[in-house]
Amino acid sequence: MDSITVHGNGPLYGSIPVSGAKNSAIKLMAASILTDQTLLLTNMPRLADTKFLGRLLQQFGIAVTENGHGADQETLFDAREITSSFAPYDLVRQMRASFNVLGPLLARTGRAKVSLPGGCTIGARPVDLHIDALTRLGAVIELEEGYVSATAPRGLIGAEIEFPFVSVGATEHTLMAATLARGTTVLKRAAREPEIGDLARCLVMMGAKIEGIDTDTLTIEGVTSLNGGEWSVIPDRIEMGSYACAAAMAGGEVRLTRSRPELITALTDRMVEAGVEVIPTEDGVIVKRDPSQRLKAVNVATEVYPGFATDLQAQFMALMTTADGVSVIHENIFENRFMHAPELMRLGAEISVHAGEAHVTGVEKLKGAPVMATDLRASVSLVIAGLVAEGETNIGRVYHLDRGFERLEEKLGACGADIRRVKGPPVEGPGDDH
Ligand code: UD1
Repeated sequence: MDSITVHGNGPLYGSIPVSGAKNSAIKLMAASILTDQTLLLTNMPRLADTKFLGRLLQQFGIAVTENGHGADQETLFDAREITSSFAPYDLVRQMRASFNVLGPLLARTGRAKVSLPGGCTIGARPVDLHIDALTRLGAVIELEEGYVSATAPRGLIGAEIEFPFVSVGATEHTLMAATLARGTTVLKRAAREPEIGDLARCLVMMGAKIEGIDTDTLTIEGVTSLNGGEWSVIPDRIEMGSYACAAAMAGGEVRLTRSRPELITALTDRMVEAGVEVIPTEDGVIVKRDPSQRLKAVNVATEVYPGFATDLQAQFMALMTTADGVSVIHENIFENRFMHAPELMRLGAEISVHAGEAHVTGVEKLKGAPVMATDLRASVSLVIAGLVAEGETNIGRVYHLDRGFERLEEKLGACGADIRRVKGPPVEGPGDDH
Protein backbone atom coordinates (compact mmCIF):
# COMPACT_ATOMS: atom_id res chain seq x y z
CA MET A 1 0.00 0.00 0.00
CA ASP A 2 1.56 3.35 -1.05
CA SER A 3 1.87 6.23 1.37
CA ILE A 4 2.70 9.89 0.88
CA THR A 5 5.27 11.79 2.87
CA VAL A 6 5.11 15.57 3.17
CA HIS A 7 7.59 17.88 4.92
CA GLY A 8 6.26 21.33 5.76
CA ASN A 9 8.68 23.58 3.87
CA GLY A 10 7.21 27.00 3.32
CA PRO A 11 5.30 28.77 0.57
CA LEU A 12 4.35 27.40 -2.83
CA TYR A 13 5.13 29.19 -6.09
CA GLY A 14 4.18 27.94 -9.53
CA SER A 15 1.43 26.76 -11.76
CA ILE A 16 -0.90 23.74 -11.57
CA PRO A 17 -3.01 22.55 -14.52
CA VAL A 18 -6.42 21.31 -13.37
CA SER A 19 -7.56 17.96 -14.80
CA GLY A 20 -10.96 16.94 -16.14
CA ALA A 21 -13.58 16.36 -13.45
CA LYS A 22 -13.73 12.84 -12.03
CA ASN A 23 -17.39 13.22 -11.09
CA SER A 24 -18.26 14.24 -14.62
CA ALA A 25 -15.99 11.74 -16.39
CA ILE A 26 -17.49 8.70 -14.69
CA LYS A 27 -21.06 9.73 -15.59
CA LEU A 28 -20.05 10.53 -19.17
CA MET A 29 -18.45 7.10 -19.36
CA ALA A 30 -21.74 5.53 -18.26
CA ALA A 31 -23.51 7.57 -20.97
CA SER A 32 -21.44 5.74 -23.60
CA ILE A 33 -23.72 2.74 -22.94
CA LEU A 34 -26.62 4.70 -24.43
CA THR A 35 -25.30 4.73 -28.00
CA ASP A 36 -24.15 2.12 -30.50
CA GLN A 37 -21.79 4.70 -31.98
CA THR A 38 -18.40 5.76 -30.60
CA LEU A 39 -18.09 8.40 -27.90
CA LEU A 40 -14.73 10.15 -27.57
CA LEU A 41 -14.13 11.87 -24.23
CA THR A 42 -11.27 14.36 -24.18
CA ASN A 43 -9.71 16.11 -21.16
CA MET A 44 -10.11 12.73 -19.43
CA PRO A 45 -8.53 12.33 -16.01
CA ARG A 46 -6.61 9.09 -15.48
CA LEU A 47 -7.69 7.93 -12.04
CA ALA A 48 -8.36 4.74 -10.16
CA ASP A 49 -12.10 5.49 -10.46
CA THR A 50 -12.05 5.91 -14.25
CA LYS A 51 -10.06 2.67 -14.43
CA PHE A 52 -12.65 0.83 -12.29
CA LEU A 53 -15.50 2.02 -14.48
CA GLY A 54 -13.57 1.27 -17.68
CA ARG A 55 -13.18 -2.30 -16.48
CA LEU A 56 -16.92 -2.52 -15.76
CA LEU A 57 -17.81 -1.16 -19.21
CA GLN A 58 -15.52 -3.75 -20.79
CA GLN A 59 -17.47 -6.39 -18.94
CA PHE A 60 -20.54 -5.26 -20.93
CA GLY A 61 -18.65 -5.74 -24.20
CA ILE A 62 -17.72 -2.07 -24.64
CA ALA A 63 -14.29 -1.38 -26.15
CA VAL A 64 -12.40 1.24 -24.10
CA THR A 65 -9.27 2.75 -25.66
CA GLU A 66 -7.11 5.30 -23.84
CA ASN A 67 -4.82 7.66 -25.76
CA GLY A 68 -2.54 10.63 -25.10
CA HIS A 69 -0.84 12.14 -22.06
CA GLY A 70 -1.37 15.15 -19.82
CA ALA A 71 -3.57 17.78 -21.44
CA ASP A 72 -4.17 15.44 -24.42
CA GLN A 73 -5.61 12.49 -22.52
CA GLU A 74 -8.68 11.03 -24.19
CA THR A 75 -10.67 7.80 -24.10
CA LEU A 76 -12.73 6.27 -26.87
CA PHE A 77 -15.78 4.15 -26.00
CA ASP A 78 -17.29 1.81 -28.55
CA ALA A 79 -20.53 0.25 -27.33
CA ARG A 80 -21.57 -1.07 -30.74
CA GLU A 81 -22.74 -4.25 -29.08
CA ILE A 82 -23.71 -4.79 -25.46
CA THR A 83 -22.91 -8.44 -24.79
CA SER A 84 -23.79 -8.46 -21.07
CA SER A 85 -25.97 -6.34 -18.78
CA PHE A 86 -24.52 -7.81 -15.61
CA ALA A 87 -22.47 -5.70 -13.17
CA PRO A 88 -20.95 -7.99 -10.53
CA TYR A 89 -20.44 -7.03 -6.90
CA ASP A 90 -16.67 -7.29 -7.19
CA LEU A 91 -16.57 -4.42 -9.69
CA VAL A 92 -19.43 -2.28 -8.31
CA ARG A 93 -18.18 -2.34 -4.71
CA GLN A 94 -14.97 -0.61 -5.79
CA MET A 95 -16.86 2.52 -6.72
CA ARG A 96 -20.37 3.41 -5.64
CA ALA A 97 -21.08 5.54 -8.73
CA SER A 98 -20.76 2.47 -10.93
CA PHE A 99 -24.32 1.67 -9.80
CA ASN A 100 -25.30 4.40 -12.31
CA VAL A 101 -24.82 1.95 -15.19
CA LEU A 102 -28.16 0.39 -14.26
CA GLY A 103 -30.36 3.04 -15.95
CA PRO A 104 -28.35 3.29 -19.19
CA LEU A 105 -28.16 -0.52 -19.52
CA LEU A 106 -31.87 -0.79 -18.94
CA ALA A 107 -32.66 1.97 -21.42
CA ARG A 108 -30.43 0.47 -24.09
CA THR A 109 -31.10 -3.27 -23.67
CA GLY A 110 -34.34 -3.54 -21.69
CA ARG A 111 -32.71 -5.46 -18.83
CA ALA A 112 -29.89 -5.19 -16.33
CA LYS A 113 -28.62 -6.86 -13.21
CA VAL A 114 -26.40 -4.62 -11.12
CA SER A 115 -24.99 -5.19 -7.67
CA LEU A 116 -26.02 -2.81 -4.92
CA PRO A 117 -22.99 -0.63 -4.09
CA GLY A 118 -22.75 -1.95 -0.54
CA GLY A 119 -21.31 -0.26 2.52
CA CYS A 120 -19.57 3.04 2.42
CA THR A 121 -17.54 4.96 4.92
CA ILE A 122 -19.48 8.22 4.67
CA GLY A 123 -22.90 7.80 6.21
CA ALA A 124 -25.52 5.36 5.02
CA ARG A 125 -25.81 6.57 1.40
CA PRO A 126 -28.65 4.42 0.09
CA VAL A 127 -29.81 4.26 -3.55
CA ASP A 128 -33.56 4.34 -2.86
CA LEU A 129 -34.09 7.51 -4.91
CA HIS A 130 -32.44 5.90 -7.95
CA ILE A 131 -34.62 2.81 -7.68
CA ASP A 132 -37.84 4.77 -7.10
CA ALA A 133 -37.16 6.98 -10.12
CA LEU A 134 -36.40 4.09 -12.46
CA THR A 135 -39.56 2.38 -11.25
CA ARG A 136 -41.51 5.54 -12.09
CA LEU A 137 -40.07 5.25 -15.62
CA GLY A 138 -41.70 1.82 -15.90
CA ALA A 139 -38.83 -0.44 -14.85
CA VAL A 140 -39.78 -3.61 -13.01
CA ILE A 141 -37.25 -3.95 -10.24
CA GLU A 142 -36.46 -6.82 -7.93
CA LEU A 143 -33.91 -6.84 -5.16
CA GLU A 144 -32.34 -10.20 -4.45
CA GLU A 145 -29.13 -11.29 -2.82
CA GLY A 146 -27.57 -7.87 -3.01
CA TYR A 147 -28.45 -7.39 -6.67
CA VAL A 148 -30.93 -5.13 -8.44
CA SER A 149 -32.56 -6.97 -11.33
CA ALA A 150 -34.43 -4.61 -13.61
CA THR A 151 -36.42 -5.15 -16.75
CA ALA A 152 -38.37 -2.80 -18.96
CA PRO A 153 -40.36 -5.20 -21.09
CA ARG A 154 -42.09 -2.43 -23.05
CA GLY A 155 -39.21 0.04 -22.85
CA LEU A 156 -38.95 2.91 -20.39
CA ILE A 157 -41.80 5.40 -20.36
CA GLY A 158 -41.53 9.11 -19.54
CA ALA A 159 -42.95 10.27 -16.21
CA GLU A 160 -43.05 13.26 -13.92
CA ILE A 161 -40.72 12.63 -11.00
CA GLU A 162 -40.25 14.91 -8.04
CA PHE A 163 -37.27 13.87 -5.96
CA PRO A 164 -37.96 14.10 -2.21
CA PHE A 165 -34.59 15.85 -1.77
CA VAL A 166 -31.68 16.78 -3.97
CA SER A 167 -29.44 13.91 -5.07
CA VAL A 168 -26.66 14.30 -7.61
CA GLY A 169 -26.44 10.60 -8.42
CA ALA A 170 -30.20 10.02 -8.69
CA THR A 171 -30.61 13.08 -10.96
CA GLU A 172 -27.86 11.94 -13.33
CA HIS A 173 -28.99 8.36 -13.31
CA THR A 174 -32.61 9.18 -14.13
CA LEU A 175 -31.59 11.78 -16.71
CA MET A 176 -29.56 9.21 -18.64
CA ALA A 177 -32.34 6.62 -18.57
CA ALA A 178 -34.99 9.17 -19.60
CA THR A 179 -33.16 10.17 -22.79
CA LEU A 180 -34.29 6.88 -24.38
CA ALA A 181 -37.71 6.64 -22.68
CA ARG A 182 -40.89 6.98 -24.68
CA GLY A 183 -42.51 10.40 -24.14
CA THR A 184 -41.65 13.22 -21.78
CA THR A 185 -39.93 13.00 -18.42
CA VAL A 186 -39.90 15.91 -16.01
CA LEU A 187 -37.41 15.78 -13.14
CA LYS A 188 -38.28 18.16 -10.31
CA ARG A 189 -36.00 19.07 -7.43
CA ALA A 190 -33.13 17.97 -9.68
CA ALA A 191 -29.56 18.58 -8.55
CA ARG A 192 -27.76 21.23 -10.59
CA GLU A 193 -24.12 20.52 -9.93
CA PRO A 194 -21.94 21.60 -12.90
CA GLU A 195 -21.11 17.96 -13.64
CA ILE A 196 -24.83 17.33 -14.28
CA GLY A 197 -24.85 20.24 -16.73
CA ASP A 198 -21.80 18.70 -18.41
CA LEU A 199 -23.52 15.33 -18.70
CA ALA A 200 -26.75 16.88 -19.99
CA ARG A 201 -24.90 18.96 -22.62
CA CYS A 202 -22.99 15.88 -23.79
CA LEU A 203 -26.29 13.99 -24.08
CA VAL A 204 -27.73 16.87 -26.12
CA MET A 205 -24.66 16.69 -28.38
CA MET A 206 -25.54 12.98 -28.79
CA GLY A 207 -29.05 13.89 -29.88
CA ALA A 208 -30.98 13.89 -26.60
CA LYS A 209 -33.70 16.50 -26.09
CA ILE A 210 -33.23 18.13 -22.71
CA GLU A 211 -34.51 21.46 -21.45
CA GLY A 212 -33.81 23.27 -18.21
CA ILE A 213 -30.11 22.39 -18.03
CA ASP A 214 -28.49 23.98 -14.93
CA THR A 215 -31.90 24.46 -13.29
CA ASP A 216 -33.74 22.29 -10.77
CA THR A 217 -36.31 21.14 -13.33
CA LEU A 218 -35.16 19.04 -16.25
CA THR A 219 -37.53 18.17 -19.09
CA ILE A 220 -36.46 15.30 -21.29
CA GLU A 221 -38.20 14.39 -24.49
CA GLY A 222 -37.27 10.76 -25.16
CA VAL A 223 -35.68 9.82 -28.49
CA THR A 224 -35.36 6.34 -30.04
CA SER A 225 -31.58 6.34 -30.27
CA LEU A 226 -28.57 8.50 -29.49
CA ASN A 227 -25.53 9.25 -31.63
CA GLY A 228 -21.89 9.20 -30.66
CA GLY A 229 -19.56 12.18 -30.88
CA GLU A 230 -16.76 13.96 -29.06
CA TRP A 231 -16.98 15.71 -25.70
CA SER A 232 -14.45 17.52 -23.52
CA VAL A 233 -14.85 16.79 -19.80
CA ILE A 234 -15.47 19.90 -17.68
CA PRO A 235 -12.51 20.95 -15.41
CA ASP A 236 -12.52 19.44 -11.93
CA ARG A 237 -13.78 22.12 -9.55
CA ILE A 238 -12.99 19.96 -6.53
CA GLU A 239 -9.38 19.40 -7.59
CA MET A 240 -9.13 23.13 -8.26
CA GLY A 241 -10.58 24.01 -4.86
CA SER A 242 -8.22 21.56 -3.17
CA TYR A 243 -5.14 23.19 -4.71
CA ALA A 244 -6.57 26.62 -3.91
CA CYS A 245 -6.73 25.52 -0.25
CA ALA A 246 -3.19 24.10 -0.49
CA ALA A 247 -1.84 27.41 -1.82
CA ALA A 248 -3.76 29.36 0.82
CA MET A 249 -2.45 27.08 3.55
CA ALA A 250 1.23 27.21 2.56
CA GLY A 251 1.15 30.82 1.35
CA GLY A 252 2.96 32.01 -1.78
CA GLU A 253 1.43 32.36 -5.22
CA VAL A 254 -0.04 29.53 -7.27
CA ARG A 255 -1.68 29.86 -10.67
CA LEU A 256 -4.40 27.29 -11.36
CA THR A 257 -4.85 26.85 -15.10
CA ARG A 258 -7.33 25.03 -17.39
CA SER A 259 -9.99 25.63 -14.75
CA ARG A 260 -13.30 27.41 -14.12
CA PRO A 261 -13.14 29.47 -10.91
CA GLU A 262 -16.75 30.61 -11.30
CA LEU A 263 -17.72 27.07 -10.28
CA ILE A 264 -16.22 27.41 -6.81
CA THR A 265 -17.14 30.91 -5.73
CA ALA A 266 -18.73 29.52 -2.55
CA LEU A 267 -15.19 28.45 -1.57
CA THR A 268 -13.19 31.37 -2.95
CA ASP A 269 -15.54 33.93 -1.33
CA ARG A 270 -14.84 32.30 2.07
CA MET A 271 -11.11 32.25 1.29
CA VAL A 272 -11.13 35.95 0.49
CA GLU A 273 -12.97 36.60 3.76
CA ALA A 274 -10.22 34.65 5.53
CA GLY A 275 -7.52 36.87 3.97
CA VAL A 276 -6.49 35.03 0.80
CA GLU A 277 -6.09 36.89 -2.50
CA VAL A 278 -7.97 35.23 -5.36
CA ILE A 279 -7.30 36.80 -8.74
CA PRO A 280 -9.18 35.56 -11.83
CA THR A 281 -7.10 34.95 -14.97
CA GLU A 282 -7.99 34.05 -18.55
CA ASP A 283 -8.13 30.31 -17.91
CA GLY A 284 -8.32 30.05 -14.16
CA VAL A 285 -7.19 31.87 -11.08
CA ILE A 286 -4.18 32.95 -9.03
CA VAL A 287 -4.29 32.14 -5.32
CA LYS A 288 -1.95 34.30 -3.29
CA ARG A 289 -1.20 34.71 0.39
CA ASP A 290 1.50 36.46 2.34
CA PRO A 291 2.85 33.63 4.54
CA SER A 292 3.74 36.07 7.33
CA GLN A 293 0.06 37.01 7.79
CA ARG A 294 -2.19 34.58 9.64
CA LEU A 295 -5.56 33.81 8.07
CA LYS A 296 -8.78 34.72 9.87
CA ALA A 297 -11.21 31.97 10.93
CA VAL A 298 -14.47 31.93 8.95
CA ASN A 299 -17.53 29.66 9.15
CA VAL A 300 -18.93 27.47 6.40
CA ALA A 301 -21.93 25.20 5.93
CA THR A 302 -22.05 22.65 3.12
CA GLU A 303 -25.01 22.87 0.74
CA VAL A 304 -26.05 21.54 -2.64
CA TYR A 305 -24.64 23.49 -5.62
CA PRO A 306 -24.16 26.46 -5.86
CA GLY A 307 -23.56 26.31 -2.11
CA PHE A 308 -20.32 25.27 -0.44
CA ALA A 309 -19.43 21.78 -1.74
CA THR A 310 -19.27 18.95 0.78
CA ASP A 311 -16.33 17.64 -1.28
CA LEU A 312 -14.33 20.74 -0.21
CA GLN A 313 -15.27 20.63 3.46
CA ALA A 314 -12.26 18.58 4.63
CA GLN A 315 -9.81 20.78 2.71
CA PHE A 316 -11.33 23.94 4.18
CA MET A 317 -11.17 22.44 7.64
CA ALA A 318 -7.44 21.80 7.11
CA LEU A 319 -7.05 25.46 6.11
CA MET A 320 -8.85 26.63 9.23
CA THR A 321 -6.63 24.58 11.59
CA THR A 322 -4.01 27.35 11.63
CA ALA A 323 -6.33 30.37 11.17
CA ASP A 324 -6.78 32.95 13.91
CA GLY A 325 -10.01 32.28 15.85
CA VAL A 326 -12.71 29.62 15.84
CA SER A 327 -14.25 28.35 12.63
CA VAL A 328 -17.61 26.54 12.74
CA ILE A 329 -18.02 24.01 9.93
CA HIS A 330 -21.46 22.58 9.40
CA GLU A 331 -21.93 19.45 7.26
CA ASN A 332 -25.42 19.25 5.77
CA ILE A 333 -25.00 16.69 2.98
CA PHE A 334 -23.43 13.58 4.52
CA GLU A 335 -23.75 12.36 8.07
CA ASN A 336 -20.48 11.23 9.60
CA ARG A 337 -18.28 13.15 7.17
CA PHE A 338 -15.78 14.36 9.75
CA MET A 339 -13.50 11.36 9.81
CA HIS A 340 -10.60 13.60 8.83
CA ALA A 341 -11.01 15.60 12.07
CA PRO A 342 -9.28 13.07 14.38
CA GLU A 343 -6.48 12.68 11.83
CA LEU A 344 -5.98 16.46 11.64
CA MET A 345 -5.91 16.43 15.45
CA ARG A 346 -2.99 14.00 15.30
CA LEU A 347 -1.12 16.87 13.63
CA GLY A 348 -1.98 19.18 16.52
CA ALA A 349 -5.24 20.71 15.27
CA GLU A 350 -7.86 21.63 17.88
CA ILE A 351 -11.22 20.35 16.66
CA SER A 352 -14.39 19.26 18.41
CA VAL A 353 -17.24 17.59 16.55
CA HIS A 354 -20.87 17.48 17.73
CA ALA A 355 -23.91 16.55 15.68
CA GLY A 356 -22.90 17.53 12.17
CA GLU A 357 -20.84 20.52 13.28
CA ALA A 358 -17.11 20.89 13.80
CA HIS A 359 -15.52 23.69 15.81
CA VAL A 360 -11.98 24.34 14.71
CA THR A 361 -9.87 26.51 17.00
CA GLY A 362 -6.88 27.71 15.01
CA VAL A 363 -3.45 26.87 16.41
CA GLU A 364 -0.16 28.62 15.62
CA LYS A 365 1.58 25.50 14.39
CA LEU A 366 0.90 21.93 13.29
CA LYS A 367 3.40 19.16 13.83
CA GLY A 368 4.00 16.23 11.45
CA ALA A 369 2.81 12.73 12.42
CA PRO A 370 1.73 9.49 10.77
CA VAL A 371 -1.94 9.79 9.73
CA MET A 372 -4.43 7.72 7.80
CA ALA A 373 -6.52 8.74 4.80
CA THR A 374 -10.15 7.80 5.45
CA ASP A 375 -11.78 8.84 2.18
CA LEU A 376 -10.90 10.63 -1.00
CA ARG A 377 -11.35 14.27 0.01
CA ALA A 378 -10.21 13.62 3.59
CA SER A 379 -6.89 12.36 2.29
CA VAL A 380 -6.13 15.57 0.42
CA SER A 381 -6.95 17.57 3.56
CA LEU A 382 -4.12 15.71 5.30
CA VAL A 383 -1.73 16.62 2.49
CA ILE A 384 -2.80 20.28 2.83
CA ALA A 385 -2.16 20.22 6.58
CA GLY A 386 1.15 18.42 6.01
CA LEU A 387 2.34 21.32 3.83
CA VAL A 388 2.69 23.52 6.93
CA ALA A 389 3.27 20.90 9.63
CA GLU A 390 6.72 20.96 11.17
CA GLY A 391 8.70 17.84 10.26
CA GLU A 392 7.29 14.80 8.50
CA THR A 393 3.66 13.85 7.89
CA ASN A 394 3.20 10.37 6.53
CA ILE A 395 -0.23 9.68 5.04
CA GLY A 396 -1.27 6.04 4.80
CA ARG A 397 -3.97 4.46 2.62
CA VAL A 398 -3.40 6.87 -0.26
CA TYR A 399 -5.38 4.61 -2.58
CA HIS A 400 -8.25 6.87 -1.51
CA LEU A 401 -6.35 9.83 -2.96
CA ASP A 402 -5.56 8.00 -6.19
CA ARG A 403 -9.26 7.58 -6.83
CA GLY A 404 -9.69 11.28 -7.50
CA PHE A 405 -6.39 13.17 -7.75
CA GLU A 406 -4.19 12.80 -10.78
CA ARG A 407 -0.41 13.10 -10.23
CA LEU A 408 -0.89 15.04 -6.98
CA GLU A 409 2.76 14.75 -5.85
CA GLU A 410 3.95 15.97 -9.25
CA LYS A 411 1.55 18.93 -9.33
CA LEU A 412 2.35 20.13 -5.80
CA GLY A 413 6.04 19.22 -6.16
CA ALA A 414 6.27 21.51 -9.21
CA CYS A 415 5.30 24.42 -6.92
CA GLY A 416 8.06 23.59 -4.44
CA ALA A 417 6.25 21.28 -2.00
CA ASP A 418 8.42 18.61 -0.42
CA ILE A 419 6.12 15.68 -1.13
CA ARG A 420 6.86 12.16 -2.28
CA ARG A 421 5.17 8.83 -2.68
CA VAL A 422 6.52 5.84 -0.83
CA LYS A 423 5.73 2.76 -2.90
CA GLY A 424 3.99 -0.23 -1.37
CA PRO A 425 2.15 -3.29 -2.73
CA PRO A 426 -0.97 -2.49 -4.85
CA VAL A 427 -4.36 -2.26 -3.15
CA GLU A 428 -7.89 -1.97 -4.47
CA GLY A 429 -9.77 0.19 -2.02
CA PRO A 430 -13.47 -0.01 -1.26
CA GLY A 431 -15.47 2.80 -2.86
CA ASP A 432 -16.55 5.98 -1.15
CA ASP A 433 -17.16 7.99 -4.31
CA HIS A 434 -15.98 11.42 -3.40
C1 UD1 B 1 -22.13 12.87 -5.60
C2 UD1 B 1 -20.65 12.98 -5.78
C3 UD1 B 1 -19.94 13.23 -4.46
C4 UD1 B 1 -20.57 14.42 -3.73
C5 UD1 B 1 -22.08 14.29 -3.65
C6 UD1 B 1 -22.75 15.54 -3.09
C7 UD1 B 1 -20.14 11.56 -7.65
C8 UD1 B 1 -19.51 10.31 -8.13
N1 UD1 B 1 -20.14 11.76 -6.35
O1 UD1 B 1 -22.37 11.74 -4.77
O2 UD1 B 1 -18.58 13.48 -4.73
O3 UD1 B 1 -20.04 14.49 -2.44
O4 UD1 B 1 -22.63 14.06 -4.96
O5 UD1 B 1 -22.37 16.65 -3.81
O6 UD1 B 1 -20.59 12.38 -8.42
N2 UD1 B 1 -29.24 9.76 -0.81
C9 UD1 B 1 -30.27 8.95 -0.38
N3 UD1 B 1 -30.83 8.10 -1.30
C10 UD1 B 1 -30.41 8.02 -2.60
C11 UD1 B 1 -29.37 8.88 -3.01
C12 UD1 B 1 -28.81 9.74 -2.09
O7 UD1 B 1 -30.67 8.97 0.78
O8 UD1 B 1 -30.97 7.22 -3.37
C13 UD1 B 1 -28.63 10.73 0.17
C14 UD1 B 1 -27.16 10.46 0.42
O9 UD1 B 1 -26.98 9.50 1.44
C15 UD1 B 1 -26.68 11.84 0.84
C16 UD1 B 1 -27.52 12.78 0.00
O10 UD1 B 1 -28.64 12.01 -0.43
O11 UD1 B 1 -26.91 12.08 2.19
C17 UD1 B 1 -26.84 13.35 -1.21
O12 UD1 B 1 -26.26 12.32 -1.96
P1 UD1 B 1 -26.06 12.44 -3.54
O13 UD1 B 1 -26.26 13.85 -3.95
O14 UD1 B 1 -26.88 11.40 -4.20
O15 UD1 B 1 -24.52 12.10 -3.68
P2 UD1 B 1 -23.83 11.11 -4.68
O16 UD1 B 1 -24.45 11.20 -6.03
O17 UD1 B 1 -23.68 9.77 -4.05
